[in-house]
Amino acid sequence: VKNRLLTLLFLLFWIECFYAQPDSTDLKLFESFGTDFTWGAACAAYQVEGAWDLDGKGLSVWDDFTHHRGKIKTKENGDQGTDFYHRYNEDILLAKQLGMDAFRFSISWSRIFPEGAGKINPEGVAFYHRVLDACKTAGIEPWVTLYHWDLPLTLEKEGGWANREIIQAFEAFVRFCAEEYGTKVKHWMVMNEPAAFVGLGYLAGIHAPGKISIRKFLKATHHVCLSLAEGGRTLKELLPQAMVGTTFSCSTIQSIRGSSRNNKAVKRMDALLNRLYIEPSLGMGYPSDDLPALKRLKRYMLPGDSAKLAFSFDFIGLQNYFRVLVRANRLIPVVGATRIRPEKLGLPVNEMGFEVYPEGMLSILRQFSKYPIDNFYITENGVCVNDQLTDNAVHDKERIQFFRDYLSHVSQAKKEGIPINGYFVWSLTDNFEWNEGFRPRFGLVHVDYSTMKRTIKDSGWWFKALLTD
Ligand code: BGC
Repeated sequence: VKNRLLTLLFLLFWIECFYAQPDSTDLKLFESFGTDFTWGAACAAYQVEGAWDLDGKGLSVWDDFTHHRGKIKTKENGDQGTDFYHRYNEDILLAKQLGMDAFRFSISWSRIFPEGAGKINPEGVAFYHRVLDACKTAGIEPWVTLYHWDLPLTLEKEGGWANREIIQAFEAFVRFCAEEYGTKVKHWMVMNEPAAFVGLGYLAGIHAPGKISIRKFLKATHHVCLSLAEGGRTLKELLPQAMVGTTFSCSTIQSIRGSSRNNKAVKRMDALLNRLYIEPSLGMGYPSDDLPALKRLKRYMLPGDSAKLAFSFDFIGLQNYFRVLVRANRLIPVVGATRIRPEKLGLPVNEMGFEVYPEGMLSILRQFSKYPIDNFYITENGVCVNDQLTDNAVHDKERIQFFRDYLSHVSQAKKEGIPINGYFVWSLTDNFEWNEGFRPRFGLVHVDYSTMKRTIKDSGWWFKALLTD
């Protein structure tokens, strides 16, 4: 019996290992993207850096938010992050080891300008030089996001994105970064997912700065859209050779029972989640015909603003995780629709309750391909699963399957002629998942938060095999 058990265990072990090995279908899938395609892995300052008050860094809204009781599900905070501040070199080398061409990270505004504007923190400035130099030494291309949600707290105290003066402060921050790092960075992203940080931060109140106000939401929306275009213009003016982009979240929106009320709810949700921040930058204005609550945006517009909203980005980063199912609900402000929780319908979800719906990637890419944009990147896509670290390994076969499925839909979109030129995994390492704390793990690399030890998961080995062999 003992021998049989041992043989069985041995077989199971081999099946596990074999599963993480790419097969010929995986090889074909990766080949279908061609050799000019950029493969990368991403992270963001607040989620990984730690060193929240070290070396002259000022506080950000997230430093403040996470220190308030009841805001973070696990009562954790990003004070230590994954200690990227000290371990950036190891992480960059890991990204390289996995075969990535590019490493996407963000700059913490309050590390450079501790008070949001004015006084500069030389140690913060030096830190990003070290990160960029490490990328160069490792032979990996840095892709820099200028704003991934960590607004300097001093600026939030003056109203944050709801105060029009922020446009100037943001422009000065962008200008500084372009002048300081311009020779080392070719790819820039002005902002990460405005729909998320404005919607969750100023309307739903579940992300920093935790506001629940339609007025603040609308004002912040307008100032973010103006800042986005202004940031793009500044980068292009100072760095005409650079590739200047920005990233938007996007999700396929559907109703489960198509009635005229539900169809209208789908349109409203689509305007809110998919169209609100990209269309002004394309010169199309706000989608207020389909989402009447946006008509109130006019109150905050000054003469000349309509033209200022437009900027022609060199590329658009799209970030897709899940599908959104809705039904009409008049009681919900602004959007008049409720999201239906996929688990209630028995649909597959990840550890955060996001529906795993690979077909949604293709349909949202088809939707965005109707815009006059000729250069897309998937700047984030990934999944959190209940990873277990055993014997120095993480057998995350669900994550491998997730990438197989989502990537095959990206490949299909590319075959249909949609100009997608790269794909970034979210995320390189496990990290602090905002109001969810450290529990959801998205990384290709596992992080043990008590020792900060990094361990490449099977999904990481899978990418490595496909990208380097
Ligand atoms: C954000 C990331 C986040 C990820 C997973 C994206 O919306 O840009 O910061 O960790 O989703 O939730």
